[in-house]
Amino acid sequence: MLEDTSVIKVKEDEIDNEITMEAIRQAGKILKAGGVVAFPTETVYGLGADALQADAAGRIYAAKGRPSDNPLIVHICCFEDIYEIVTEVPQAAKRLADAFWPGPLTMILHKSEKVPFQTTGGMDTVAVRMPSNQIALALIRQGGGYIAAPSANTSGRPSPTQAEHVYEDLNGKIPLILDGGEVGIGIESTILDLTEEVPVLLRPGFITIKMLSEVIGEVRIDPGIIADDAKTPPKAPGMKYRHYAPKAEMVLVEGAQQQVPAKINQLAEEKINAGKKVGIIATKETAGSYQQGLVISIGSRQEEEEIAHNLYKILRTLDASGVDFIYSESFETPHMGQAIMNRLLKAAGHQVIKVK
Ligand code: TXA
Ligand code: MG
Repeated sequence: MLEDTSVIKVKEDEIDNEITMEAIRQAGKILKAGGVVAFPTETVYGLGADALQADAAGRIYAAKGRPSDNPLIVHICCFEDIYEIVTEVPQAAKRLADAFWPGPLTMILHKSEKVPFQTTGGMDTVAVRMPSNQIALALIRQGGGYIAAPSANTSGRPSPTQAEHVYEDLNGKIPLILDGGEVGIGIESTILDLTEEVPVLLRPGFITIKMLSEVIGEVRIDPGIIADDAKTPPKAPGMKYRHYAPKAEMVLVEGAQQQVPAKINQLAEEKINAGKKVGIIATKETAGSYQQGLVISIGSRQEEEEIAHNLYKILRTLDASGVDFIYSESFETPHMGQAIMNRLLKAAGHQVIKVK
């Protein structure tokens, strides 16, 4: 079913602005009526619907073309609201909320009866997050307090970091996009499962394992997210899909910083000689080492936050440029590098070439 998609510009730093307030009220009405709306968060744009209306989740799956066994994150705007949707809030969850909410951390807890299985993809647990973006918080409040929201991309495409990306994917499929400009972080929230004896990291993000451990002690890592093959299935159902996938075939090249550009140049030349278009994801430090292809710098190796911020936008730019192959440098994995490599590996369908 095709409908006109409106895009309304909203200003996070002027939340009292009349146009912004009116847009949020209008969006809230759509959500209360069981419809979907795209909105900015500090991580990526979300596609929201009322998490407590069973049919509303179905509209998200339909617009995204997403498998309905893939559970949604429920977004709240005040900590106290969590008690309605989970059976128990462990001490660790309280401490993490104190430290990181509102912010880019999602916690998995046991769901209460209020949350329909359509929202949790049939699971007994529910993912909960309180975002820090002011537009998001105001919209959650207007929409009834519990907004299920996956990233607002078509399933399988890179997550949207600006409203234009949402429009590209969902124009004609949703009634409204709140355009709050480019997001800050650029990759999805960290997901931590608190239903296990020892909390398990299911998706790395801006909040790193070190930051989590400093607050709650031991945290395990789901083996499915660090395996650099696709054989170990991750525990978060959504992590098993070939997410964040560019249209081109993508390969990561790993090795010492001096050798990687030489290898990528060689691979690129072979493809270009065969009449193919090649894109290269380089860094500020190495961009000058590439002679051919469409070379894009993802940022400085010294600035992990900048790399994360640019990642999805660059994948979309490369898609739009019509390249057939993408070669990307790889990154060290302490801190946020783990989240960056997790997304790059998935974009590349785990194709990695190691140079000695
Ligand atoms: O930053 C974010 O988290 C963004 C913004 C919009 O808030 N949302 C987001 O949602 O990334 P989505 O649907 O693209 O990713 C949610 C991930 C999926 O991998 C899903 O499988 C996992 O969370 N998930 C949700 N509920 C779960 C549960 N009960 N148990 C395990 N994994 C769960
Ligand atoms: Mg997603």
